[in-house]
Amino acid sequence: MSNKVLSEKFYAAMKRLEPRYPTKLALLLPSLHAAQDEIGWLPPEALNEIGEYIGIHPAQVREVASFYTMYNLKPVGKYHLKICTNASCTLRGAEELVHHCENKFGIKVGETTADKRFTLYEEECLGACGTAPAMMLNNDYHENLDIQKLDKLLDGLE
Ligand code: FES
Repeated sequence: MSNKVLSEKFYAAMKRLEPRYPTKLALLLPSLHAAQDEIGWLPPEALNEIGEYIGIHPAQVREVASFYTMYNLKPVGKYHLKICTNASCTLRGAEELVHHCENKFGIKVGETTADKRFTLYEEECLGACGTAPAMMLNNDYHENLDIQKLDKLLDGLE
């Protein structure tokens, strides 16, 4: 039996992508994305496997994965909120959104609810300053937020 944590589907997707990239090393970021989509975060076993697949040391994989905030190196909830608290968003109420979520979920920034439903992070600029305050919910952007809009969004989740 295989001890692999990444699925056949992951490897098939990588095989399909390989011809589009000049080197296997260039597949590192797409492979991290695909692994995270599959598992929800990037456990050490997945980083090891990606290193083996790409042909680099797992420490190099971890180094790259830890550089980007979009990669989760620890488990996150089903819904991962990343609220931008950079200048424009803070001026337009991002801190209130963060505090509102902390109170609503009973957690602090960086934590996950006990039922593993919500993880709350603060994020650096999401590149949506013109429509601040902005937040990512998993891979989707939500902009021009206020507490009412945020509540409506969160209360409508399954
Ligand atoms: Fe929040 Fe740029 S400051 S998106």
